[in-house]
Amino acid sequence: MRREVILITGANGEIGHGLITQIHKENRARVVALDLKPLDDCLMPYCERFIVGDILDKMLLGRLIAEYEITSIFHLASILSTKAEYNPEAAHEINVEGTINLLRLGVELSQWQGKPVKFIYPSSIAVYGLPNIESKRSSGKVREDQFCSPNTMYGCNKIYCENLGRYYSKHYRQLAKDPVKNTVDFRCLRFPGLVSAETIPTGGTSDFGPEMLHYAAQNVPYDCFVREDTRIPFMAMPDAIKALLMLEAAPMANLTQTSYNVTSFSPTAAEIEQYVRKAFPEAQINYAVHPQRQTIVDSWPADVDDSPARKDWNWEPDYDMRKAFEEYLIPAIRNRYSSSSC
Ligand code: SER
Repeated sequence: MRREVILITGANGEIGHGLITQIHKENRARVVALDLKPLDDCLMPYCERFIVGDILDKMLLGRLIAEYEITSIFHLASILSTKAEYNPEAAHEINVEGTINLLRLGVELSQWQGKPVKFIYPSSIAVYGLPNIESKRSSGKVREDQFCSPNTMYGCNKIYCENLGRYYSKHYRQLAKDPVKNTVDFRCLRFPGLVSAETIPTGGTSDFGPEMLHYAAQNVPYDCFVREDTRIPFMAMPDAIKALLMLEAAPMANLTQTSYNVTSFSPTAAEIEQYVRKAFPEAQINYAVHPQRQTIVDSWPADVDDSPARKDWNWEPDYDMRKAFEEYLIPAIRNRYSSSSC
């Protein structure tokens, strides 16, 4: 009999770490994890199987159909916004072609298994493209349907994949003589910048938040690449994991849209610095603005409206900014840099 599992792509990334650990803690499901790079040793015992592989490898994905009963796919693999600007076509390949491959796998699994496979997709505040700083200041909490004209390759990829997900789940092969009976059940979260105590992001433009903290904790000087007054929404990693698992568990009948904003707190870079300095008074933080990265962050909203998520599936973050720093980030980060644990 095929083993019932969930599939996590990009397993070795920031969200993957948190998700695999939480699924293990809750004894929620068996995990098949996929990543281009070998999985961190500390996550290995939490996985039924780890595959070093590429989401562009269709043969590899196809083999999973025969081996496993996959009930949910958490498709986390992607190239983040700053890195994507250095090689937009490569980013498109991973972010879009990779996602199509996974959606196609989801459809085949759903048909094979006779019921929709849940497809949980993390999108981002990068889907927004506010035209200028004045509209960023005046637009308040941005809704899912506003300002969806991103200025980055990553943002373009994310908004397109949101649409692909909606297409694959609701309209796939709509003119075929034998319409597809079971297709993916696509559910998407638009994350703000994420801050984890355990991992440091690579290649994102919201990285100034987590970098400021991790550099200070290691007593390494940090040049923040955005202005002190730069404001975007952030969320502590445990809340991001909670949101993914809540959305996965939500009854389909309650969902009124396929993409949901989720958020927690919206500090300026200077407010993040204050919290970092409170914990690490010796922190060496300077501002050396990178004009293009600043422009990207200026096109992202200062805050987002997550009321549909609150209404449809009872979303509520556990961590406001004070609690995130004092009860999660600072204690866990002190522990991280004083021990070799992962
Ligand atoms: N963290 C992402 C990035 O900076 C945005 O969601 O690319």
